[in-house]
Amino acid sequence: MTISAMPALERVEVRAPDGSYPIYIGAGALKTLGTLLQLHNLRGRPIVVTNQTLAPLYGEPLAAALDAALISIPDGEQFKTLETVRMVYDQLLALGVDRRGVLIALGGGVVGDLAGFVAATYLRGIALVQAPTSLLAMVDASIGGKVGVDLPQGKNLIGAFKQPAFVAVDPTSLLTLPDIEWRCGAAEIVKAGLLRDESLLDAAHYRRENAAFIEILRRAIQIKVDYVQRDPYEQGIRAELNLGHTFAHAVERVSGYTWRHGEAVGFGLVAAAHLSYAVGACSAELPERVERLIAAIGLPTRCNFEPSEMCAAMSTDKKRRGHTLRFILLRGVAQPEIRDDVPAQAVLEVLSSLRNP
Ligand SMILES: NC(=O)c1ccc[n+]([C@@H]2O[C@H](COP(=O)([O-])OP(=O)(O)OC[C@H]3O[C@@H](n4cnc5c(N)ncnc54)[C@H](O)[C@@H]3O)[C@@H](O)[C@H]2O)c1
Ligand SMILES: [Zn+2]
Repeated sequence: MTISAMPALERVEVRAPDGSYPIYIGAGALKTLGTLLQLHNLRGRPIVVTNQTLAPLYGEPLAAALDAALISIPDGEQFKTLETVRMVYDQLLALGVDRRGVLIALGGGVVGDLAGFVAATYLRGIALVQAPTSLLAMVDASIGGKVGVDLPQGKNLIGAFKQPAFVAVDPTSLLTLPDIEWRCGAAEIVKAGLLRDESLLDAAHYRRENAAFIEILRRAIQIKVDYVQRDPYEQGIRAELNLGHTFAHAVERVSGYTWRHGEAVGFGLVAAAHLSYAVGACSAELPERVERLIAAIGLPTRCNFEPSEMCAAMSTDKKRRGHTLRFILLRGVAQPEIRDDVPAQAVLEVLSSLRNP
């Protein structure tokens, strides 16, 4: 495809400490990947890394179009491990991939994190392209350069910062995403809206068949981009992206990871809004609004876990600071506030009030 024949793609620029890169957004972005590689002067051997679910849907056609090798890992967070990384290294070596190789991470956040970690470390680093296919990966995981894998001791304990050469977001791939994964990604968009952009808080927008959804996608991506640009190494304001996540991590842990991250984030946003009201940061209207929106998306607004157990899980969260818990509260929509002084009693009361009757 010549550049003039390329579909119209939106371009969001990301300024990173070790060089800037664009995020291309638009229907057809995946089909255009070969042209984008040329445009970015990435002429080494392309290798598509994907998972076994996505290989037949998108991996094989893409590899054929690019004349690329295809490496397929098993599907699931339980495979985001050093063992899988090792398996990918072995295949890259068997293929004879040298330092000019270009690794294309095609999939959800699991593939993006794992393949990104491989690209950061194989031969001390080769070029990386992120091609996110899940909503969560499009608006969150593929942006910001954090890559890595889990250990039996905990999630994301091993990793690196690796900026991609570019990111290609093709919303047409969302049409095959399972409903539950769609809702989970939507939770992160609601989070972005609560932090920065009221226009993302309208339930009517959350329809993937809707052509206007691409604008929602672009705005959500822009919010994450703004945060990572201001705080590339997560030393300050990027903490705001943890809105709802102190609660979410507790739910994930106490549920034995039977709750998905996005489901837990949906509940976590409701809880964070109630906590904001409980400590007098916002009016009662805010938690009501968040609750309505999360319910409309089809995510849980209540949970039945023991509040004291949830609080215990929070205090072992790796993001805690000293002996007080850190919460991101809201004074209103687009008015987040990082707070290290929330009384444990208020957290317990909010969690008790959010139990199923
Ligand atoms: N690096 C970061 O900054 C960052 C941020 C947030 C989350 N993450 C990581 O992202 C991971 C979660 O990402 P996720 O929610 O995308 O999970 P995932 O990668 O497991 O994808 C969810 C499921 O959807 C399937 N899928 C993805 N795209 C599809 C499509 N277009 N059609 C059909 N099926 C599709 C996948 O095969 C998988 O079964 C976690 O490991 C988390 O730690 C990383
Ligand atoms: Zn999240």
